[in-house]
Amino acid sequence: MKQEQNILLTGDRPTGKLHLGHLVGSLQERVTIQDDPSYDRRFVLVADIQALASHAGDPQAIKENVRDVVLDYLSVGIDPAKTTICVQSAIPAIAELAIYFMNLVSVAQLQHNPTIKTEMKDKGFGASVPLGFLAHPVHQAADILAFGATRVPVGSDQEPLIEQANDIVKKFNALYGETFSPIKAIISKTPRLVGIDGTAKMSKSLGNAIFLSDPSKVVEEKVMAMYTDPAHIQVSDPGTVEGNAVFSYLDAFDPDKEGVAELKEQYRKGGLGDVVIKKRLIGVLETLLTPFREKRAVYEKDADLVETILREGTAEACSYTEEIAKKVRNMMGISYL
Ligand code: TRP
Repeated sequence: MKQEQNILLTGDRPTGKLHLGHLVGSLQERVTIQDDPSYDRRFVLVADIQALASHAGDPQAIKENVRDVVLDYLSVGIDPAKTTICVQSAIPAIAELAIYFMNLVSVAQLQHNPTIKTEMKDKGFGASVPLGFLAHPVHQAADILAFGATRVPVGSDQEPLIEQANDIVKKFNALYGETFSPIKAIISKTPRLVGIDGTAKMSKSLGNAIFLSDPSKVVEEKVMAMYTDPAHIQVSDPGTVEGNAVFSYLDAFDPDKEGVAELKEQYRKGGLGDVVIKKRLIGVLETLLTPFREKRAVYEKDADLVETILREGTAEACSYTEEIAKKVRNMMGISYL
């Protein structure tokens, strides 16, 4: 069944609204890829089971997050006519493949997976890590392989999960015959966006994010409170550009690169106040976010439309993945009925 098509799959854990870090790290790329003819199919998976693996006690919150994430997708320009948006828990083939793949992976292998190690430390699970959480690399391999995906755009932190999935591909093919093609991770070239507090990563849980759905007023407040250079006290003081969050954001979002280069020079010399650069960033973000807000408003008013998009996308994903699951059963020789 070696499939020759180029299938793209990406996914997000619905743990909250998406922010500027997601935009730079993956969403922009997904929108661009929609018009790349080298892909035969594109899927975006809302990985709600993966979110449940660490929030089992709060399925209601996850349900709300699913809707928010879909709204975020639609507002940044993910087009359901080009990209199938679907929800993980409603796709039986993923769960089925995950169970088969569990026999191909050892517990020790998962415990040593760098992504899992970092996340376990962040979440403070220790020895009481839920099995579902430990197994999420296997589940993610099932996400990818249920779609026969060959290209997976992910953040660099996810690379070990793609390696794990490729290990499963090798083991499965060796045991049951050539079934799956190798998976290629597409790692974002844009540097990771720092938080508004200047720390390494923008993240909802660190409380340092600007959300794609933040209203103008909130964006303005967040930018005005942003970390710059703590030693830049008087306007006339020379300032540091490296590690200065406002400049990192201008680098990421301001289309006028020359203008930004001039500002940096002026800031380094002294004589340029933080308020000036922050005001500029507010303008840049407004230009970026306004069209998203307008689109979002349309979808927010029409809850039925959003539900229909998700229902139809998921139905399509179900029939698509069921074909692959059938082939998997055949290869394994377990289609007895
Ligand atoms: N683990 C990914 C994240 O936390 C989300 C995800 C779930 C995913 N399934 C996927 C990404 C399949 C790519 C492919 O960001």
